[in-house]
Formats: sequence, structure tokens, C-alpha cells
Amino acid sequence: MTNNLLQIDTADGVRTIRINRPDKLNALNAATIDALDAAFAGAATDDAVRVVVLTGAGPKAFVAGADIAEMNALTPVQGRDFSLRGTRMMRRVEKLNKPVIAMINGFALGGGLELAMCCHLRVAADTAKVGQPEINLGLIPGFGGSQRLLRLCGRAATLELCLTGAPVNAERALQLGIVNRVVPAAELEAETMKLAAQLANAAPLALRGMLDCVNIGGECGIEEGLEYESAQFGLMFATEDMREGTSAFLEKRKPAFAGK
Ligand code: COA
Repeated sequence: MTNNLLQIDTADGVRTIRINRPDKLNALNAATIDALDAAFAGAATDDAVRVVVLTGAGPKAFVAGADIAEMNALTPVQGRDFSLRGTRMMRRVEKLNKPVIAMINGFALGGGLELAMCCHLRVAADTAKVGQPEINLGLIPGFGGSQRLLRLCGRAATLELCLTGAPVNAERALQLGIVNRVVPAAELEAETMKLAAQLANAAPLALRGMLDCVNIGGECGIEEGLEYESAQFGLMFATEDMREGTSAFLEKRKPAFAGK
């Protein structure tokens, strides 16, 4: 399926959502934010989808940020609403009930890095550049960048990226823990799809339980977080997939997980 703003394909349980404004380096205007919100709502409820890969169209950018032309004329109230709009969409991505992989094919700046940080895994081309350059516009991150970067890689890197606005290359992003993997640009799609296929064949309810443990348990104190993990662990014993996985191990065969 394709609309003007997103290209959406599904194959073998992997839904690829490609932001499609390459002439504007896939900048996030309000319409694109809304299209992404709808696309992720659709992915959440579609049983044919086990994993989502999110990327940008064209050779240059994942997403070069929130749309500066659109922001230029906003009033304070509209600015807040724009921030809330993006933040709500990104929270939906972060809390999706199935894994989301950001395939970072170029610039992931500002809202682009914020969007990538909401994904559960990030694979970057060795040519990618990531950063929070809002300071250069007299702004600060508005889609959760200050909070997610802080949680992902700590105060030193967060303050370095957000105070200087300078982007870092993929290798440095890997060192800082911002991305999970860096691969040669020519192999980005193949390597990302290999990872996506691996997750598409994993037990969906266990993946979901694991995402909840990090998203929900990770925001509690240690006692509550451990308690939450135990409850999720117990819940797995209600699934056919857990019986299948453990039986397949004992029978020395590959498991086939049905998501039940
Ligand atoms: N919002 C709106 N338009 C954007 C954009 C953004 N965040 N980022 C890029 N574009 C547009 C440019 O205005 C240009 O449009 P035009 O051809 O109509 O003039 C087009 O995308 C191509 O960008 P250009 O700047 O010509 O490409 P470049 O290769 O010279 O530079 C970047 C690439 C990413 C370094 C540069 O585009 C940039 O700094 N973008 C803004 C990044 C940013 O500050 N993001 C945070 C926003 S809060």
C-alpha cells in the first residue's frame, strides 16, 4: 500500500513503513506524523504483522527532523500541540505490542533521532549521521529527545549532543549506545531484513511480554520491576508457544510459534 506520505509493504510477517518525503529529507510535518500514527495503529492490530521496520525513502535521510518550514510560524500554543502530536505518535511506536526496528539509512536528526529512539532496535548504515541539532534553531528537542537520549546513553552524551547540536557518525553512535548495529550502507537493507526475519519467527507473545517488561517494568522501582517480570514470566505458561518452544528443545527440532 502507498499513500503520498508513507510506503507500506508487508512480506513474511515483516511490515516495512517507509516515510516518503525524500525531497524534504523525510521531515516530519503534521500530516506525516498523523500518517505514522495511523500506520502504527494498523500494525498493532494486524495479525499478519509480527515485526515492523521503519525507514526513510531516498538515499540521504531516515528523517532530517521535524518540518522546520511548518514550525516557523507556529504560536506557543500551536508549538505545544505540535510537540504533543509527535510525542503521542512516538509513544505509540515505543509501546507497540510487537518489535519495531529503525533502519537508519542516512540523517536521523532532531525528530528523526527521536523517532528512531522510540524503535526497539536500531540498525544504522555506516554513512548515517545522528544528532539533536535543535539548538541551532533556537529550539530544544520536542518529541522526547531529552528524555529518551538520557535513558539510552546517559547525561554526558545527552548534554553533548543537545548542547552542541553537532551530529555524530554511525560509529560514534554505536560507541554511545544510541544504535545497536552499524553495517555497510550497501548491506543495510539485507542485514536489517535478516534481523526482522529472526524476530518474525520468534514467539510473538514472548516478544510482547519482553517489550512490556522494558517499557513498563523499566519505569518502576526494582521491586516492582522484578515483580512485573515474574508476573509476565508466569503468563508465558498460559501460551501454546511456551509448550511448543520447550517441547521443540526437548525433541531436538525447530519450534514453530503460532502466537497463541
Ligand atoms: N524540515 C523541513 N525541511 C527540511 C528539513 C527539515 N527538518 N531538513 C531538510 N529539509 C529540506 C531542505 O529545506 C531542502 O528543501 P528545498 O530543496 O526545498 O530547499 C531539502 O530538504 C534538502 O535539504 P538540504 O538542506 O538542501 O540538504 P543538504 O544535504 O544540503 O543538508 C542536512 C542536509 C540534513 C544537513 C540539512 O538539510 C539540515 O540541516 N536539515 C535540518 C536538520 C535539523 O535541524 N533538524 C531538526 C529540526 S527540529
